[in-house]
Amino acid sequence: MADTAFLELDGKRYEFPLVKGSEGEVGIDIKTLRAQTGAVTLDPGFKNTGSCQSAITFLDGEKGELRYRGYAIDELAEKASFLEVAYLLIFGVFPTSEQMQKFESAIKKEAVLDPNLVRIIDSFPSSAHPMGVLSSATSALIAFNPSSVNVSSEEDMYRAIVRIMGKFPIMVAHAQRKMTNQPYVQVDTSLNYIENFAAMMFKTQGKEYTQNAIITDALNKLLILHADHEQNCSTSTVRVVGSSHAGLYASISAGISALWGPLHGGANQAVLEMLEAIEKDGGDTKKYMAKAKDKNDPFRLMGFGHRVYKNFDPRAKIIKLTADQVLADLGVHDPILDVAKGLEREALEDNYFVERKLYPNVDFYSGIIYRAMGIPVEMFTVLFALGRIPGWVAQWREMRLNNEPIGRPRQIYTGETLRSLDR
Ligand code: CMC
Repeated sequence: MADTAFLELDGKRYEFPLVKGSEGEVGIDIKTLRAQTGAVTLDPGFKNTGSCQSAITFLDGEKGELRYRGYAIDELAEKASFLEVAYLLIFGVFPTSEQMQKFESAIKKEAVLDPNLVRIIDSFPSSAHPMGVLSSATSALIAFNPSSVNVSSEEDMYRAIVRIMGKFPIMVAHAQRKMTNQPYVQVDTSLNYIENFAAMMFKTQGKEYTQNAIITDALNKLLILHADHEQNCSTSTVRVVGSSHAGLYASISAGISALWGPLHGGANQAVLEMLEAIEKDGGDTKKYMAKAKDKNDPFRLMGFGHRVYKNFDPRAKIIKLTADQVLADLGVHDPILDVAKGLEREALEDNYFVERKLYPNVDFYSGIIYRAMGIPVEMFTVLFALGRIPGWVAQWREMRLNNEPIGRPRQIYTGETLRSLDR
């Protein structure tokens, strides 16, 4: 391929360099477009816009491939721990056992919440959605850890990273404990990251909690599968907020808010509510398929479709297998799993879905696993956020280390031209 792209505008020819990625993607570098031509590009939803060059996550939407730092997602989900994957995403190398020990023990040291932060979480009304609680609590972390991150100090950056990795799971678990009227529990330093999280989520007052390997293995896998997904809505939010030099926790708090929406991470809650509604309605999947295809009906088949995957979502494949396994191992028969499989079968044979390349995404089966574990539906998107923390941190760090300019798109103004008040 040539190294240059040409644009003709108003009879003049302009030249723009091409940028090529390590996996062959090609971008037209239009940094000088407006200065040269006076025009800007228009791309609502950024469907064709590369916002940055990134070395963290690669995905091929046509082939259904996803890799973190070059490693295939199925290999990582099978063979690695969530903390190893977090380290890999953030620092770019698979950790040695020494690096891992240091990382894990630094995270454990941070695994405690200031009692005033616990009080803030407790003071939300019991009807509050935990995503709102978590977004606020993450923002509040700044007040309890006031030193700002000096991005050119590796030590400062490391401290900020282990702090959020240590405190976020406790905030998540406490948000769930509050919903179920359980008091704050301290972490148990003899347990690993996932075991601790499971104990904090499921331990009931006055009772011992017995670890269940089916649950911890599934949690480990689910967190890995959610850990990063290049420039999606919440990650772009984190990068844009951070590009104003807002701190890491403020940027992540904004990312949590972006993730909450039902078109993004909020889809896992919406899927479960949809499957329950279909089941209650007699399991008539055809009726809901028709609604999803009806352009006059706002209903969409939640957990279907993806901006980038146009073949299949490799995460959904792994999660579907995991759902079968976990439900069988836990001895749970959930009729909504049958509804989900029925919907998938019908959609894969339906022209509307086939033509638009709409396949189950990461959110279609994950909620069925969380439900089998006894996690309330409002917590599903929070678990997505817990998995995504390393990705947001890695992307924020890369953006700051690359010294990226402030994110500030242009627009095409379509409002009134200059006019005067008529008085
Ligand atoms: N049900 C019915 N029709 C759909 C669906 C769906 N779930 N998704 C897309 N379409 C149709 C859409 O109406 C449009 O049809 P037409 O060309 O006739 O106008 C066409 O497919 C293309 O859709 P789009 O909305 O232009 O595609 P997009 O890339 O802007 O949106 C999406 C991607 C994920 C927001 C969308 O597929 C959707 O709303 N899915 C349901 C919500 C969901 O499951 N979200 C989780 C995404 S994966 C987790 C994450 O990383 O966020």
